[in-house]
Amino acid sequence: MSKTILVAGGAGFIGVNFIKFMLRENPGVKIVNFDALTYAGNLASLADCENNPDYEFFHGDIRNDKDVASAIKKYNVDSIINFAAESHVDRSIDGPHVFLDTNILGTYTLLQAARDFGIQRFLQVSTDEVYGSLGKEGMFTESTSIKPNSPYSASKASADHLVRSWHKTYDLNAVITRCSNNYGAYQFPEKMIPLCINNARHNNKIPVYGDGMQVRDWLYVYDHCTAIWAVFDRAAPGEVFNIGGNNEKTNLTLVNSILAMLGKSKGLIQFVKDRPGHDRRYAIDSSKMKEKLGWEPSVTFEQGIEKTIKWYMDNQAWLDQVTSGDYQNYYKQMYHQR
Ligand SMILES: NC(=O)c1ccc[n+]([C@@H]2O[C@H](COP(=O)([O-])OP(=O)(O)OC[C@H]3O[C@@H](n4cnc5c(N)ncnc54)[C@H](O)[C@@H]3O)[C@@H](O)[C@H]2O)c1
Repeated sequence: MSKTILVAGGAGFIGVNFIKFMLRENPGVKIVNFDALTYAGNLASLADCENNPDYEFFHGDIRNDKDVASAIKKYNVDSIINFAAESHVDRSIDGPHVFLDTNILGTYTLLQAARDFGIQRFLQVSTDEVYGSLGKEGMFTESTSIKPNSPYSASKASADHLVRSWHKTYDLNAVITRCSNNYGAYQFPEKMIPLCINNARHNNKIPVYGDGMQVRDWLYVYDHCTAIWAVFDRAAPGEVFNIGGNNEKTNLTLVNSILAMLGKSKGLIQFVKDRPGHDRRYAIDSSKMKEKLGWEPSVTFEQGIEKTIKWYMDNQAWLDQVTSGDYQNYYKQMYHQR
């Protein structure tokens, strides 16, 4: 369908994995990585793509309509996939403003550009967190009501509503994906799995919020990328798809298994004060992905986590690079007063 996709937020964790997946498995589709390079964007992760004729980088901000227009015109973009966001819940509690700005107004800017330039396909990468929290039973389906509990998830939910309304009102060919927690290579080590691996390799304490019994569904990032491509390529306009891995784990179980795989002691775990408004359980029903698009995850959790740990241990220079500078200040601010 498409020839040139503007991938907003392509220098972040999932964006990097998505771009590598596209260049490897869908040659001929041009990718324009449009990224503001915030603390979470790391172009070094894409160094191996720089000479690929299907890849371009454009340094721009999704909140700036001139940046967006320039990139679309320069590369003759016909489709947009929006990964760009402020994505860390803890940061959204400490400073919500930039979350509203980037996640809501940035999405609005992209939607308006999509109208102005006759964009043929728009995919909004969203999250299961827009549905809020579950009790012990049940799963989120695409018709579960939207009840976000954090400034982050509220900003993502707002963006989803904008995308839906641009489809209904302006007939924009838009689709939305809502995915559970991702894990894999190139994730910034403020997020739980790389943070745990990074601290464990230095024998530093691993903070676990509250009682550690919060349940999350984990999906290997490669499987999220194949799901996004299936939705982009084949879903009907206006559709929403939940994407999950069917791997519900408590945070404590997850940390314990990573420590066991690294041969480290459980004594590294340090329980810290819980996050305000912390969602207790997420579980996602992704049967629509299977029934309508034939998509299923390709790896089990055990396979995925083994590959992930191996990647971080083989790429400690990457971890060293991203854990220097700003990240250290942020880390102190977040965890040293708890
Ligand atoms: N990580 C997960 O587990 C997960 C799960 C479900 C959904 N999502 C969603 O997937 C998307 C990507 O998540 P991620 O984990 O890769 O995030 P990330 O924080 O690793 O990366 C975000 C990227 O967006 C860029 N960015 C931020 N503000 C920007 C702006 N104003 N203009 C242009 N670029 C900007 C950053 O530089 C960075 O490269 C997000 O929309 C997130 O809500 C993430």
